[in-house]
Amino acid sequence: MALTWMASGPLAQLGRDLRHLRLRLGGGHPSPLVARPRSPRAAAGASSVPAVHAAPRELVVARVVRETKDVVTLVLVDEAGARFDFLPGQFFTVLARIDGADVSRNYSASNAPGTAELHLTIKRREGGRASGVLVSSRAGDRLRVRGPFGSFTVTPSSAERRAFVLVAGGVGITPLLSIARAVLAAEPASRLALVYGNRTRDDVAFASEIDALARAHGDRFVVRHVLESPHAGFEALAGRLDRVTFARIAADLGLASPTFYVCGPDAMRDEVLAALGDAPVRTERFAVGSQARAASGAAHAITIRAGGREHVTVAAAGATLLEAGLAAGAPMPSSCSAGGCGACRIKLVSGEVELAEPHCLTPAELRSGFVLACVGRAKTPCTLLVEGGDGGEQGGVGNGGDRDGERPT
Ligand code: FES
Repeated sequence: MALTWMASGPLAQLGRDLRHLRLRLGGGHPSPLVARPRSPRAAAGASSVPAVHAAPRELVVARVVRETKDVVTLVLVDEAGARFDFLPGQFFTVLARIDGADVSRNYSASNAPGTAELHLTIKRREGGRASGVLVSSRAGDRLRVRGPFGSFTVTPSSAERRAFVLVAGGVGITPLLSIARAVLAAEPASRLALVYGNRTRDDVAFASEIDALARAHGDRFVVRHVLESPHAGFEALAGRLDRVTFARIAADLGLASPTFYVCGPDAMRDEVLAALGDAPVRTERFAVGSQARAASGAAHAITIRAGGREHVTVAAAGATLLEAGLAAGAPMPSSCSAGGCGACRIKLVSGEVELAEPHCLTPAELRSGFVLACVGRAKTPCTLLVEGGDGGEQGGVGNGGDRDGERPT
C-alpha cells in the first residue's frame, strides 16, 4: 500500500529508492518486520560476535545522568576496568532482587561499544517496580548484568559506504543513538538520518548529544525532530510521527537506498512500517510482553519433561512457559528472558504454544517444534521437553529479541 501511495508528488524519490533497494536485493520480499538472519553469527554481520556473559557480571554505577523527567542513563563500569564489547543496538539484562523477588529487565546500551563504560538508559514505567527502583540508582550501587543480546544491530566497518534512516519514538532512541554514534565514528563514508518523535520538548532524551553529533558531522548526520506539542526555539515538525509525517520527512532526506531501523512504541512503529511497505526494515518494539500477556486469555495444563521427571502444572492465563515451569519446580534453562538469546529453547511435544514475535528461533527450529519458554505461552494443554533436562543457565547470542514492558524502547 505504502509504495503506491508514496509514488506521487514529493514522495516519489523515496518510492524509487525503496524499489531500487528491492531490485538490488534480487527482487525478494523481505519481511516488513524484523530482518532475522539465519544464524546468530549472521545476525551480527561478518565481524566477530561479542561474547555473551551468560553468568552475570557485577558492575558498579559510576554516575547517573538524568535525560528527561522519567529517563536516566546509568553509566556502569567494571571494577577491573574491562571494556564493554557489544554491537551497537544490542541490549543487556539487569538482574535485581526487588521486594524479595528476582526480576530481570532488558535495557539497550545508548553509548557506542568498545569503551570502559556501559550506558544503560532506563525509563521509569508507571507501575513498573523494577524500573522505579533502577532509575533511583546512585553512584556506587552495584548491579548484576548479563549480555549483550539481540540482533537489532549494525556491524560498523570503515570500508562501508552506506545510508541509514533511524526512526525513534520516545526512549526508543536508545539503541539508535548507539548505532548512530558507532557508525559515525567508524564509517567516514556512511550517512545517517535520525527521525525522532516525542510528545513534548521535555520528552526528548539526549537532545544535546544529538545536536552535538549533528553539528560535528554536518550532512553525514541529519536530524528531524517531530513534536506533538511544538516548543518555541526547538526546531521540529509539529504533529505525531505517523505514516504521513514520516513519509514527508523521508522523501526529503536525500539518502539513496537507505536501510531503515525503527524503534519505538507500537503505534509509531506500525505507522512507520506502513509507510515503508515491504522495504527491508529492522525494528525493535516495546511492551510486547504485556501485549502478549493480555492476548493470552486462558489457563492451560502443561507437562514439562526434564531429567527423567514430569512436572505437571497449570500455566495461569498470560504466564510464560518459563514462569509456569519455574513455579512448578522444573529445571528450566534461561538467560535473557526476552526472546533474544535462545537459552530457554525447549521442544513442544504436543499442544499449541503462542510465541511473542519477534524471537530468535530460526525457521528450521520452529519446524522442528522448538519454542522459547520465556516468550512462549500455552494456547492449549501442552507437553514440553527440556532437552538435557538438568536445567541451569545457558548463554548464547541470538537474533531478534523483543523488549518487554520494562525495556527502554
Ligand atoms: S531466555 Fe533468552 S530467549 Fe529465552
